[in-house]
Amino acid sequence: MAIIAPDIAIDLGTSNTQVYVKKKGIVLDEPTLMVVQDGKKRTVKAFGDDARLMLGRTMGDVSAVQPLKDGVIRDYDMAEYMLEFFIRKSIGSSRLVRPRGWITIPSSVSAVERKVVREAAENAGIRRGALHMIEKPFAAALGSGLPVFEPKGSMVVDIGGGTTEAAVISLGGIVISKSIRTGGVKMDEAIIEYIKREFNMLIGDRTAEDVKFDLGAALQINDTRRAFVRGRDLVTNLPQTVEINSNMVYEALKKPCQDILSAIQYVLERTPPELAGDIMRSGIHLTGGGALLCGMDRLIATELDMPVLLAKEPMECAIMGIGHLSENSDWLQRMTTGLIQRPEEN
Ligand SMILES: Nc1ncnc2c1ncn2[C@@H]1O[C@H](COP(=O)(O)OP(=O)(O)OP(=O)(O)O)[C@@H](O)[C@H]1O
Ligand SMILES: [Mg+2]
Repeated sequence: MAIIAPDIAIDLGTSNTQVYVKKKGIVLDEPTLMVVQDGKKRTVKAFGDDARLMLGRTMGDVSAVQPLKDGVIRDYDMAEYMLEFFIRKSIGSSRLVRPRGWITIPSSVSAVERKVVREAAENAGIRRGALHMIEKPFAAALGSGLPVFEPKGSMVVDIGGGTTEAAVISLGGIVISKSIRTGGVKMDEAIIEYIKREFNMLIGDRTAEDVKFDLGAALQINDTRRAFVRGRDLVTNLPQTVEINSNMVYEALKKPCQDILSAIQYVLERTPPELAGDIMRSGIHLTGGGALLCGMDRLIATELDMPVLLAKEPMECAIMGIGHLSENSDWLQRMTTGLIQRPEEN
């Protein structure tokens, strides 16, 4: 029986949660999802991957729960259960001394939201007083290989499920950042709205996400792709199938894409000139699953006239960033707040 648990890093995302164990790497990557049975007491039927398999196949008082919304915990009890389950699954539970932990948080969270994350993580199994909370864009920048500790400006835009975080980083700290509650989930919602408006048909969240994967585009593309989509006719209430194409999905995604562009522009406009020069040379680095939307990199490059680079494994940057920090805890001393300005949430 191991006495001391290894350090553990958790990227707690709105859509996906990943766990990195020191000296092992990423050991868990599952949807931030659970299936819960309501009653006098709520009982959890499944977590993560197992919960996703049950999606849409549940009935009555059994429902899917997403404990995070827009990057922050919205269902405290469920978030704590889920973290406890994922921690146990990653390192087992036969430890006398609990692990030290690293966890990501959005860069704009309030003191109360920070406290909620801390308490959930500590109740779920992280040693009390041994939890480091690292802002997501910093973790994503470090994990995508940017020189975050150097006296040079680096820019990262992390487009996740619930949030987009644009940040300029230098000398171990965030110089300026903007976090908006727009990401992959808002894109799915925009597709649902579009199909409702144009075809009077309601589609589910998963169908919307599939449409985004197959036909989604941030830019108008020449070779139009098409697909049949199934849903429920809102007039007759009967199942219905309609054909949609990539240009329709492009129309649907215009607003969330514009919001992301505005957030990046906001940060660029407030970046000190020397750092802006560095970013002109090294480019804007895109991370997070939403960065995989077809044409997102080209849209940003064209609209902002800047070089844009998509990270190699965009969905693993944040977890690799805090994973590296857990392997090199002396780096913490090199982290500064470096915060010149943090705008209010819009
Ligand atoms: N190929 C793709 N095209 C478009 N979107 C994609 C693609 N692959 C993944 N996504 C989207 O990326 C999102 C998940 O990304 P990610 O795992 O980085 O988010 P997260 O870390 O859970 O969320 P957050 O950091 O905002 O809390 C989902 O909305 C998913 O639909
Ligand atoms: Mg994320």
